[in-house]
Order: sequence, then structure tokens, then C-alpha cells
Amino acid sequence: MSEVDPRWGADAVPALVVENVTTRIGPLTILDGLSLELRAGEVVTVLGANGAGKTTLLRTIAGLYPPRQGHIRLFGESIEGRPAHEITRAGIGHVPSGRELFPRLSVADHLELGGRLSPPARRAELRARMLAMFPVLGRRLGQRAGTLSGGEQQMLAIARALMTDPRVLLLDEPSTGLAPKIVLSVFQTFPMLREQGVSILLAEQSLTLGLTAADRAYVVDQGRIVLSGAAAQLAEDHRVVDTYLGR
Ligand SMILES: Nc1ncnc2c1ncn2[C@@H]1O[C@H](COP(=O)(O)OP(=O)(O)O)[C@@H](O)[C@H]1O
Ligand SMILES: [Mg+2]
Repeated sequence: MSEVDPRWGADAVPALVVENVTTRIGPLTILDGLSLELRAGEVVTVLGANGAGKTTLLRTIAGLYPPRQGHIRLFGESIEGRPAHEITRAGIGHVPSGRELFPRLSVADHLELGGRLSPPARRAELRARMLAMFPVLGRRLGQRAGTLSGGEQQMLAIARALMTDPRVLLLDEPSTGLAPKIVLSVFQTFPMLREQGVSILLAEQSLTLGLTAADRAYVVDQGRIVLSGAAAQLAEDHRVVDTYLGR
């Protein structure tokens, strides 16, 4: 077991529970009875090779694929099978794989889009918080997203998701296409998010990057969890690379 921040007792309701979830796309079973848990205040990484099912898992949690079987609970509330916008409203923010920004829309437009479900006063508060957290975005409010650097685009994708005021943030391979130094600067925002009560589920295929920022991790292979443990413990486990990531 990992160390849990004493502010969150072991008996507290978990932020997110994924229980025995199966997702099919057409005839294919992509997630196959997958279970995991994210406690309030944790950063948990889902590690897996390309094609393991990480994106499908995050999309299933976000309501973009309906699970065929199983349960998903956000602070004890069942959310599986609900439409994506309701899941966003319930408190799940999703930073999709590849960021999915609109290249011709400005930074300000993206923040506006992210905040459209929140009441105006709250939206203004969230926007101010985003600009404090990502000062570079504040300097580029009128700039089109397509002209930002890779790191800035990733920050914008995260800020847009945070504008939905989530309690759980799903981050799908934010390291893609970024230099390790830039990735670390993205990960450096995690402690701030934790302080704001946001718990993080991060998908990564890089062992080193994936475990740097995490409290715990799960290794996924062919849509199933095959290993789990404290990040420090998995970093020492040769099976992670030899069997699951090294192919
Ligand atoms: N829309 C889709 N149609 C068919 N197969 C898909 C689709 N999305 C994902 N898959 C398959 O599901 C598996 C898991 O994919 P994905 O969740 O994207 O993995 P990861 O994010 O870990 O790379 C892969 O075998 C992939 O080819
Ligand atoms: Mg993926």
C-alpha cells in the first residue's frame, strides 16, 4: 500500500472507482473487466504500451464510450452510461489524447468553451485561477491555439478542462511530442491542482515520466490491469518494462 495523505482517511469515499468495466468498440473488447481506484488528492498513473487501452479507459470514464458492463463512481455517485456533458458537469475533466484544440480559435476562446457549463461568477473565478496557474496563457489570450508551442498547447488543453471545475482530471498522455523538460513543467502544476481538491488520473506509456509525478500506478495490458502499486515500487519492478512496456 502507498502512503496516503493523512488528510484523506483510508475509509474516505474514493474520488473515482472503476469497477469491472468492459468496453467494446464494434465487435472488439477493448477494456476487459478493468478495475481501479483514485483516492481524493491522489495522482495515479495508468501505464501501458501503445494500444493497451489507456485512451479507451479515459474516454469510457468521460462518457465518450458507454461501458458494456461494470460501474464507475465519482465520490460514490454512479456515472456510468450517462452522456458526456453530464459527466463533465458531475465533476470529471478530460484532457484528450492529442489535445484536440481548435487551431484557429484563440486561447481566450478555449477558456470560454471550457467554462460554458459553469455559472458566470464561477467562470470568472476559474479563468483568473487559470491565468495565475499558467501565466504564459495570460500573455497569449488573443493568440490562435495553432500558433502556440507544444507545451503551451498542452497547458491550454489542461486549462480548458479545468475550466469545467472538475474534481477529477483525466490526462491522456500529456507528454506526447514534448521535450522531457517541458513535460516536467506540465507535471509541476499537479501540486497546485491537488491543493485545489483536484485528483488526477494520468495515462502514460513512458515509465520514467509516468511515475515521476504519481503516488501510485496501474499497469494496463490488453484492456486489463496486470500490476499495481506505489509509484516507487513499480519503478523498481523489472516486469513493468520487460513484459508490458518494452514491446
Ligand atoms: N475507434 C476504434 N476502433 C477500433 N479499434 C479501436 C478504436 N479505438 C481504439 N481501438 C483499439 O483499442 C485498443 C486500445 O486502444 P487505445 O485505448 O487507444 O490504447 P492506448 O491509448 O493505450 O494506446 C487498440 O488495439 C486500438 O487499436
Ligand atoms: Mg492513447
